[in-house]
Amino acid sequence: MGSPSGSRRRNLIMILAGLIIFNVMSCTRPAGTLATFQSARSDELSISGQWNIIDVPPRSRVNAIHAALLPTGKVLIIAGSGNSPENFDAGSFTTLLWDPQTGQFSLIPTPDDMFCAGHTLLPDGKLLVAGGTQRYQKGTQPAHGASYSYEFDPQTQRYERVADMHHGRWYPTLVGLADGNALAVSGLDESGQPLDGHHELFRRDISQWIELPALNRYFPTYPALFLTADGRLFYSASTAGYGHSDGAGRRPGLWNLADNSFTPVDGLRDPNLTETSTSVLLPPAQDQRVMVLGGGGIDDSAESTARTDIVDLRSPHPHFTPGADLAEPTRYLSAVILPDDTVLTTGGSRDYRGRGDSNNHIARIYDPATNTFRAAAPPQVGRNYHSEALLLPDGRVVTLGSERLGDDDNSTPGAFEQRIEVYSPPYLYRGSRPVLTVGPTVVPRGGTAEFATPDPDSIVTAKLMRPSAVTHTTDVQQRSIALTVVRKDRAISVRVPAEAGLVPPGWYMLFVTDRAGTPSVARWVQVP
Ligand code: CU
Repeated sequence: MGSPSGSRRRNLIMILAGLIIFNVMSCTRPAGTLATFQSARSDELSISGQWNIIDVPPRSRVNAIHAALLPTGKVLIIAGSGNSPENFDAGSFTTLLWDPQTGQFSLIPTPDDMFCAGHTLLPDGKLLVAGGTQRYQKGTQPAHGASYSYEFDPQTQRYERVADMHHGRWYPTLVGLADGNALAVSGLDESGQPLDGHHELFRRDISQWIELPALNRYFPTYPALFLTADGRLFYSASTAGYGHSDGAGRRPGLWNLADNSFTPVDGLRDPNLTETSTSVLLPPAQDQRVMVLGGGGIDDSAESTARTDIVDLRSPHPHFTPGADLAEPTRYLSAVILPDDTVLTTGGSRDYRGRGDSNNHIARIYDPATNTFRAAAPPQVGRNYHSEALLLPDGRVVTLGSERLGDDDNSTPGAFEQRIEVYSPPYLYRGSRPVLTVGPTVVPRGGTAEFATPDPDSIVTAKLMRPSAVTHTTDVQQRSIALTVVRKDRAISVRVPAEAGLVPPGWYMLFVTDRAGTPSVARWVQVP
């Protein structure tokens, strides 16, 4: 792959040029010019942001296959066996809890192999983790899905086993519904076969899985399914991993769970390149616009695309229209909604699982209002298969994981990428941030809530951001819901939309932004 290594070479040249300029300015000129350099540096940070690699103690390094932000502000990083048959055979399963505020890491006892499970945050703030690995792939024999499910409690920091599912599931998507229950869709079953349309519902009132025989529709593994304002699920055709090779289940559309009807949505370009593509419900969620970014051919195809397309689901006849192209054809892109209503896109590779050293080391910030990408500082760590990215409550973005195919024969996995890299967006380099000082922790859907602030006139927007639960660059949980803001005396009042399809029950990060788009640190609030 000439182009990715070419772009790395360009990055290297730019870094070298920067060092030379720095040396010239700081060594051969009077000291006053260093201040000029430093101010140029802070200008650059406020335009491109900055990446930093986190120092992870050796005993806390895990294969980050799954990552979810919990309402405690900590990030749950699940490896399970971490795609290591040796760990699987030894019954050695790991989970790491990271507190981004204190930098503390804690290993969590992990009772089963949650490698390639599904997950969704329940309304009470516990993370439901269902499925995983019952048996590893052996030769041409596919992996077998496990049927156990667990709730991870952010308060006790422990897994609690709940009811088994009716089927084993490896690579399922769990999607939270408007009533607070969760739907498990797709996966390879207990004998390694793709589940042909058998979905099941986790009922939170009885903590049981209910089979839904009338809801029969086939999707490939890790399908991207987004809860829409009217309660239907939009399937964007993004998937990760496994499915039938005849094209079944690869057409986007709106799925009505009430009667199992499916209304196709057409117009997606490169429809054969949706595997390992990324989808995101663009901010604000009220616009009901879903973007599909990049992707590749099925299985180990070398083909990939720079296409992005957008569908407006509020339209009477939804249809994809072209978005701005990515910098280059990309699989496994991460897309993270930022609190200023833009979307960070980062990482990915041109070829299947980063084969041929094809990681792209590119980050861009997408602005849905103008349908344009602008450059962001490039990440140092390349990420492809088995990687994740998510927004932190302080406005930074963490990226984890990746497992490229090795250098030797391009068919066996190389060393798992265990470095964690954090992006600080440009808005963190503009000086002061708006602040909410006092307010409720419960915010009613369809109602208002008041929060104290020293400077209400500076606050322009408020939003509820649902935390991410992501694996295989698939995150159907993140969303950003705009709130109506009324400025008061040393306070603001926010109004939450009434539709549960827009604001499903659960915990959210409440962010406000000022005129420059600079966000506050989030406050955690619960929508019952
Ligand atoms: Cu996987």
